[in-house]
Amino acid sequence: MGKSHFPIDLGVLTAIRQLAAPDSTIVELGSGNGTNRLVSEYTVYSIEDDEKWVGYCEGSNYIHAPLINLDESEEPIRWYDPAILKNSLPESYDLVLIDGPAGKKGRAGLLSNLDLFQTDVPFVIDDTLRDHECQVAREMAYLLNRPLYMFWNFSVITPNPLTVEQISRIQRAALQVLDSEELPYLESYFTEPTPIVEISMGEWSDKIAEQNQHRLHVASLEAKNRKLQSLESSISLRIGLLLTSPLRFVSSLVNRKKLE
Ligand SMILES: C[S@@+](CC[C@H](N)C(=O)[O-])C[C@H]1O[C@@H](n2cnc3c(N)ncnc32)[C@H](O)[C@@H]1O
Repeated sequence: MGKSHFPIDLGVLTAIRQLAAPDSTIVELGSGNGTNRLVSEYTVYSIEDDEKWVGYCEGSNYIHAPLINLDESEEPIRWYDPAILKNSLPESYDLVLIDGPAGKKGRAGLLSNLDLFQTDVPFVIDDTLRDHECQVAREMAYLLNRPLYMFWNFSVITPNPLTVEQISRIQRAALQVLDSEELPYLESYFTEPTPIVEISMGEWSDKIAEQNQHRLHVASLEAKNRKLQSLESSISLRIGLLLTSPLRFVSSLVNRKKLE
């Protein structure tokens, strides 16, 4: 049996880890086995339409939101009932993972309901190797006026630009997953399933090491600077005391005279 692509993979998990501090709160659209990984590190609220999957992961806070028609056309967009989300979403959270409803049910309903969510947090959008999810991610980036970072099978939209180190860490994990995929799976999404540049995790590890070194270098420069500043202020204090000592001597004599 082939690998299941329903749960979030290491690339998505790494993106989440780069964007949400441990113990912070995540809202997940679409729950499954991957939710078990998330609850071990975060407080999770899972929005789930399918009763079968509601409560699947013990540690998550489930919001059961069945899909409803969002319009009255012949082929209406179906999405989580917005009224339920409005009343049940937590007051604040640190990241939104978009991984539902299930691919075949469509995710376009999110676009007309983006205002239900906090917009000052990162969004991680899974499955953007599929045309529909890719289109949703592009439109989200447009609606939010933010850049869209695309990795081979998922995307990220963040209020703050990603650092070189964050991109390198996420890309390294995403490539690890890509390297483990079977050709028929890749062929179903890409016209040229074999990358023309060989997959090299080492290249991204090097970039991470460079960034670490740069950070250490900056930290040591800052420490030196602080030391220099405190030295300078102590020297100027001593010079000041030396220069004003005759004045202070005279003024102490005057004060003593007054007291006599
Ligand atoms: C892509 S899945 C969500 C996966 C989830 N975020 C995770 O990491 O496990 C989207 C929807 O498919 C359903 N689902 C979850 N896991 C499934 C599985 N292993 N097989 C079939 N359907 C699944 C649930 O209704 C879920 O809302």
